[in-house]
Amino acid sequence: MKISIFGTGYVGLVTGASLANLGHDVLCVDVDEKKIHLINSGEMPFYEPGLKELVLKNKERARLIFSTDIEGAVHFAEVIFNCVGTPMKDDGSAELKYVFDVTKKVALSAKEYKVLINKSTVPPGTAKKCQELITKTNPEAKIDLVSNPEFLKQGNAVYDFNHPDKIVVGAESEKAFQMMHKVYHGLVKTYMPIIETNWETSEMIKYANNAFLATKISFINEIANICNKVGADVKTVSKAIGKDYRISPKFLNAGIGYGGSCFPKDVQALINTAKSHHYQPQLLQQVEELNERQKTIIVPQIIDKLKEINGNQVTIWGLTFKPKTSDLRGATSLKIIEELIDNGFKVNIYDPIALEEVRTIFSDKVTYSNSVKDSVVNSNLIVLVTEWDEFRNVDFSELGKSMKTKILFDGRNIYEPETLKENGFEYYGVGRK
Ligand SMILES: NC(=O)c1ccc[n+]([C@@H]2O[C@H](COP(=O)([O-])OP(=O)(O)OC[C@H]3O[C@@H](n4cnc5c(N)ncnc54)[C@H](O)[C@@H]3O)[C@@H](O)[C@H]2O)c1
Repeated sequence: MKISIFGTGYVGLVTGASLANLGHDVLCVDVDEKKIHLINSGEMPFYEPGLKELVLKNKERARLIFSTDIEGAVHFAEVIFNCVGTPMKDDGSAELKYVFDVTKKVALSAKEYKVLINKSTVPPGTAKKCQELITKTNPEAKIDLVSNPEFLKQGNAVYDFNHPDKIVVGAESEKAFQMMHKVYHGLVKTYMPIIETNWETSEMIKYANNAFLATKISFINEIANICNKVGADVKTVSKAIGKDYRISPKFLNAGIGYGGSCFPKDVQALINTAKSHHYQPQLLQQVEELNERQKTIIVPQIIDKLKEINGNQVTIWGLTFKPKTSDLRGATSLKIIEELIDNGFKVNIYDPIALEEVRTIFSDKVTYSNSVKDSVVNSNLIVLVTEWDEFRNVDFSELGKSMKTKILFDGRNIYEPETLKENGFEYYGVGRK
């Protein structure tokens, strides 16, 4: 099939490259000329494991092309994916202007039948608004609107897209459902994880999915904070309750909150949607409030410790909102660094991928290191913020030698307190000591 993808961000680029790899002819289009130029020169606009290889392989086979020609992209394909961003507005609602912009452009240029698929995360009711916009913009246009939210995780996006636990399709016509089966034929050959439903349910599934995961994280963080008070160990608590198959061990790691471009904005957008329908979503409001508090919950402890030892040099390990991505959107590290700088401490940072990008945020307000080893020289205290693999196998006995004082705050509970203590470190986890 011929498929166009609008928006070559994390979702659009992975979707485009993966669909090309399944044998479709794919044209990816973006309004960001620099991004398209970069991809056409063989570089990726962000780090995502396996993506560069997939893009280059399919470009070489001439199944994947990149362009800024919006009208051309409408004419090219019968199936068009809308993968543009839906960032959070100041009032917490989803910004839909990019989604509507693409919808309008497709409606204006479409001469034959098209399926326009909202893959972006949008509030329930958006597909209906898009279909109305199409009719208003071009009453002659024969376009079926489909909702097909994406569930991939950054850092594992290529694998996730190609091994979905479900494909959700919301549509209002039999032809649209049939077309979606053709699009995903390569993924559903052996089994049928396609869930067919109406627009609103499909849109709601995406929000319910993310809101549930966010709730699980805020729940275990709440338990961790209580563990801290009563002297219990949250890691053992998680392990034990995760054995209950009704709970499962996934998303039960206590830490310093979730970040990223999805969970915070999607929970906020769902809260906003509920309120706009005169419903107060109390649980979801608490999930978000708890998470915001959790992001900096260790900062007062760090400051107290530094004052106690008369120290002023802090090392931050990990900047991105999670490992295996270069994405800094909503990253907890940024809040922690800001608070430490505001309190007059010297901050030295290290991240395997995002150092260059973070320079554009903090410039000379912090110092930068190119390795784990260099990052701790003359430091009083390490704060592990993002659990990149290379932080898991650190030789603390060696590393401690170059530090002024050996203190570690483990924001993701990845270390065993005993190992750190054996190497002369003071250890502070989240809900464990
Ligand atoms: N990032 C994730 O892990 C993830 C996972 C699932 C769902 N989503 C959802 O997918 C959507 C996209 O997210 P993302 O992280 O890929 O965003 P992104 O910001 O990385 O990419 C969006 C792209 O759309 C382009 N764009 C904007 N207006 C355009 C237009 N009119 N025509 C063509 N291109 C245009 C931008 O230039 C940008 O390159 C969002 O709704 C998000 O919530 C994201």
